[in-house]
Amino acid sequence: MHPDPQKLPVYPPLFIVKFFNLIRRKMVRISRRFTHPGVVMLEHMQNLWLLGSISVVNELGIADILKNGPQSVSGLAAQTGTLADPLYRVMRLLASEGIFRELNDRKFENTRYSRPMMDGELKHFIRHTLNPLQFRIFGEMMHSLKTGNRTTELFFQEGAFEHMGGSEELGEMYNRAMTNTSRMQVAAILSAFDFSGYSKIVDIGGGQGFFLSAILSGYPASTGILFDLGTVFSDPRKLPDPAVFGGRLNIVPGSFFDFVPPGGDLYTMKNILHGWDDRKCVEILTNINKVMAENGKIMIIESVVGEPNKASWGAMTDIFMMAGLGGRERTAEEFRSLIEAAGLKMESIRETVSPLSLIIAVPRVSRL
Ligand SMILES: C[S@@+](CC[C@H](N)C(=O)[O-])C[C@H]1O[C@@H](n2cnc3c(N)ncnc32)[C@H](O)[C@@H]1O
Repeated sequence: MHPDPQKLPVYPPLFIVKFFNLIRRKMVRISRRFTHPGVVMLEHMQNLWLLGSISVVNELGIADILKNGPQSVSGLAAQTGTLADPLYRVMRLLASEGIFRELNDRKFENTRYSRPMMDGELKHFIRHTLNPLQFRIFGEMMHSLKTGNRTTELFFQEGAFEHMGGSEELGEMYNRAMTNTSRMQVAAILSAFDFSGYSKIVDIGGGQGFFLSAILSGYPASTGILFDLGTVFSDPRKLPDPAVFGGRLNIVPGSFFDFVPPGGDLYTMKNILHGWDDRKCVEILTNINKVMAENGKIMIIESVVGEPNKASWGAMTDIFMMAGLGGRERTAEEFRSLIEAAGLKMESIRETVSPLSLIIAVPRVSRL
């Protein structure tokens, strides 16, 4: 079943989110100032054990099992084919961090911080990010530092997307992971940009179409093209139902290195450029620039790496991109250079309540 884009989370306005993020960061800094620096480092290191625990409990589907109320650890072990004692120790650690709550007699219940592990929430993104291969990749990250290449080439030679596309199971996990995060990101994007006035929206690398469906649901005068590799479209049950959009949504398989559907007045690209090096990004942008409508726009939706020495979502995911894909997150100036190298100009950058910003590129010289 394709997820329902109507059921999107509702976020507070950007200024409120920014204010509370500022307070949150200040409080972390204050708390660190009163902590021995060695303890701060040890606490960072403990995250490895915490992440291993999140990974296995997510894989076992414990949050889904607990959806109807508390259960004993022996019941959870019986339902998941695990041993009660090690499962208890892992659950105890998670509960000590607020992920699940431990009740009497080794019973556990969900909390608001365990619910993201449920199906339909972030379950598949957690699987994608914390599966056993990821732990091996990050154990070998020195490879990227010595060669400048992605660490994943130690584990498979073909590109990451070919690798995932070649396995039904991996492809499925990846596409569902992207749809999981899209659900959180799309509400933020829709509240930051008015899509009315764009009659033909092409979502480049649009995955299983969650973002485009959400746009078309909110803007009935627009039509859309979902463009991605053919392997992403192999199971029609995972894609938007064309009947719902009455012919307004078309699916075109292909590679953006070969061609891009022509004539769009808005080309959206969410989480695409960060997967590629600068040369490939310029190739993708140039391919769009060649075929977009005369008054067309490109909306690049990515994290923008912020100022040095400040907590930055982009600086974090940059390492994931470096090791996994050989890609990178970019600063505003780096985006400007890419855009100009493709014969375009950067019109604006707009923040959203999510870590993603909307970077708008337009033809350098108006072709009207
Ligand atoms: C990080 S995902 C982003 C998916 C979606 N835009 C989102 O934000 O959820 C990258 C997408 O690029 C697609 N992709 C990778 N290589 C591609 C290519 N050569 N041509 C078209 N799409 C490609 C992948 O299949 C995947 O759906």
